[in-house]
Amino acid sequence: MTELGFSDFSAYEVYLDDHPEEWQILDSILQITISRFYRDRGVFDILCSRVLPLMAKDILLHGGDEVRCWTAGCCSGEEAYTLQILWKLCVLPAVHKDLPLRIIATDINHDALKRAQEGNYSESSLKDLPKELIQKAFVQSGKFYAIRKTFRENIEFLEQDIRLRLPEGSFHIIFCRNLVFTYFEDALQRQILGGIIEKLLKRGILVVGIHESLPKGVTGVIQHEENPCIYKKSG
Ligand SMILES: C[S@@+](CC[C@H](N)C(=O)[O-])C[C@H]1O[C@@H](n2cnc3c(N)ncnc32)[C@H](O)[C@@H]1O
Repeated sequence: MTELGFSDFSAYEVYLDDHPEEWQILDSILQITISRFYRDRGVFDILCSRVLPLMAKDILLHGGDEVRCWTAGCCSGEEAYTLQILWKLCVLPAVHKDLPLRIIATDINHDALKRAQEGNYSESSLKDLPKELIQKAFVQSGKFYAIRKTFRENIEFLEQDIRLRLPEGSFHIIFCRNLVFTYFEDALQRQILGGIIEKLLKRGILVVGIHESLPKGVTGVIQHEENPCIYKKSG
C-alpha cells in the first residue's frame, strides 16, 4: 500500500478491483515462510516414539514395501527433512526392518523450495532438534548446517498451490501445518480437507499445527488418542 501511495484499505480494495494482477502480488506478500526443524516438539516426540513405529509395523504386516508421506506447505524443507531424519535414525532402528519413507513436499513459494533443495540451514532453524540428531544428520560449515545426502533421498519438492491442486497418489502420512487451517477461510478449508482425506490411505494419519483444529462437523478423520494434533482416517 505504501508503494502504491494508499493510506487506507478501502482505496487499496478499489485498486484491487481495477487491477486483478495485484491479487497475485498481495497473495505472495501474505505467504509466511517461517518454519523450523522439529517444530512443535511434543508432536514429533509422540510420532517418533509411538505413532510411526506402530504404523511401520502395521504396513510391514500387511505386506507394504514403502511409506508415503506428503508435507503440504513444506516451506524450506524443514518438516520433510525432520521426518526423514526421524524415520532413518529413530523409527527404522525400532522396527528392525528396512522400509523406505517417500516424501512429496509441496509449497507455492519458489524461493522457499529453492532453499529446501539446497538444504543449508542456520543454527536457529535447528534449535528444537535434539543435539544428537543434529550431529548425525548435518555437516557444519561455518555458520551453516548442510543436511547429509542420505536424508535428502526419497524427498521430492514440488511447486504447487494447494488451492488449485494436490499431489498425485495417496499417502500414509499427511502433514498440513500452519497453512490451510490457519490462513484460509472456512469453505476453502473444508474443500481442501475433503481432498486431503481422499488422499489418506486406510489407517493413515493427518498432522495439523498445535494452534489449529479442523472445521466443525467434519467426517472422515478422528482425533488420534495420542495427540490432539494428529488425526487418523476413520472408516
Ligand atoms: C507458516 S509456513 C508453515 C511451514 C511448515 N508447514 C511448518 O508448519 O513449519 C506456511 C507455508 O505455506 C506456504 N503456502 C502459502 N500459501 C500456499 C498455497 N496456496 N499452496 C501451497 N503452499 C502455500 C508458504 O509458502 C509457507 O512456506
